[in-house]
Amino acid sequence: MFAKSLLVAASVAAVMFAAPLAQADTVKATATLKSDAPGAVINKYVYGQFSEHLGAGIYGGTWVGEDSAIPNTRGIRNDIVAALKDLHVPLIRWPGGCFADEYHWRDGIGPRDKRPSRKNNWWGGTPETNHFGTHEFFDFAEQVGADAYVNINMGSGSPTEMREWIEYMTSPGQDTLAQERRSNGRDKPFKVPVIGLGNETWGCGGEMRPEYYSDLYRQYTPFFHKNADNPAARVAVGPAGDDVNWTEVVMKNIGPNRMEAIALHYYTLPTGDWGKKGASIKFTQQEWVDTFAQTMRMDGFIQKHIAIMDKYDPEKKVALYVDEWGTWYDVEPGTNPGHLYQLNTLRDGVLAAANFNIFHKYPDRVKMTAIAQTINVLQAVILTDGDKMALTPTYHAFKMYVPFQDATMIPLDVQAPAYTLGGKTIPSFNASAAKAKDGHVYIGIANMNPIDGLNLSIDLASLKAKGVSGQVLTAPKMDSLNRPGAKPEVVPVDYKGGKVKGSTLTLDIPAKSVVVVRLD
Ligand code: AHR
Repeated sequence: MFAKSLLVAASVAAVMFAAPLAQADTVKATATLKSDAPGAVINKYVYGQFSEHLGAGIYGGTWVGEDSAIPNTRGIRNDIVAALKDLHVPLIRWPGGCFADEYHWRDGIGPRDKRPSRKNNWWGGTPETNHFGTHEFFDFAEQVGADAYVNINMGSGSPTEMREWIEYMTSPGQDTLAQERRSNGRDKPFKVPVIGLGNETWGCGGEMRPEYYSDLYRQYTPFFHKNADNPAARVAVGPAGDDVNWTEVVMKNIGPNRMEAIALHYYTLPTGDWGKKGASIKFTQQEWVDTFAQTMRMDGFIQKHIAIMDKYDPEKKVALYVDEWGTWYDVEPGTNPGHLYQLNTLRDGVLAAANFNIFHKYPDRVKMTAIAQTINVLQAVILTDGDKMALTPTYHAFKMYVPFQDATMIPLDVQAPAYTLGGKTIPSFNASAAKAKDGHVYIGIANMNPIDGLNLSIDLASLKAKGVSGQVLTAPKMDSLNRPGAKPEVVPVDYKGGKVKGSTLTLDIPAKSVVVVRLD
């Protein structure tokens, strides 16, 4: 019961460092499915990925080169491509991040042995060989079956550099840039449905004020040449977290006719302190709760930015992209601090699902997101070590939520009891529902309560269902994890805790878990 859950929470706070944890209990909660009032389609791009030239994200994790002993296709690892195909990755954002605003696309085309080596100033000063450039990125995206989101350099580039890169990628004609692309091995234009103009221009991308950025954006706009060859959605740099002034100025000065999206960035730091963010493993129950308290702020940020967008764009022409999100912990001890390598535990899997449930609430605005980052960086979906690979708990959460891609959102009114520990309160769970393209209704639940199971009773209202099946992701410890080369500790299994009786669906959900069910 909830009251007991609070007591358990308080007693756990007192004995936080003494194993074993307090006795588990069951929280009871109810919800109502509004199947008669469906919302908008959850754009598949909500399940996007972000791959930056950072640490072992590209080099080693994605690109090993054609001569590598690691099985590859034209230099790109076969194991990660197969895993990402299984995830139905809809979109990959590249080449950064902060890296994008120092990247010059000409460095990454032509014979690889002739490409310049640069210093990756943002990420550890590591040499950047440029062996992974435009053609290699599109090969990667095409092997995975994902669309491409290319972020152009506004911080240290020029409108001409942007225009020429776009022409190089997209021109079907006989012009010199298209011919140069052909001479580098690609006849047909690349498909580029999304292009970002700058990255974090309030910070690493140029320390601009929103007034300056929006003027600069407007200067770039005429040279973007949005047309049949280049129909890409133009993504303006958006706010960090709750910087509503940035959104206000950019929405007002750029306006809905010059951009198709504005991009919010928000990272979850357990402590909220960039100086000491918190560890990726061996964390306490308090740190678990702190982390979820931080991640749940995403919902409020989205609401605030949407309110401003509604003012300047009542027709909802501009989408809110959350094109960087995820956990950001202190780096794994002994690794290069500039490479942002962290381990990925059950906490990350549950947190990913909790964020999906938030994104699903706003399908008419939140039309794309990208987790940071795909491989070996921050909240990675895949970790590699030499020829070994681990699918992280975050990967499994993404996989369980695949049916939500392009599904029609169904509002789910949830009464979730609060869970409090050490003065921090989180909802004990969140959930979302949608009618998938296969015709079935799916419900996803993130049980953020680290101790107590959940007995959730859902009123299906007019929806008729006979049975329920699904998958559950949980593990014995909060920081159970999957490491390359080791037996995975966190893998989804068939879910047997659901029952349909009349118009009521009852789900028994373990503590600290993700459950996705399908109604039959
Ligand atoms: O994802 C790592 C970095 O975080 C990105 O390069 C930057 O955009 C953000 O600050």
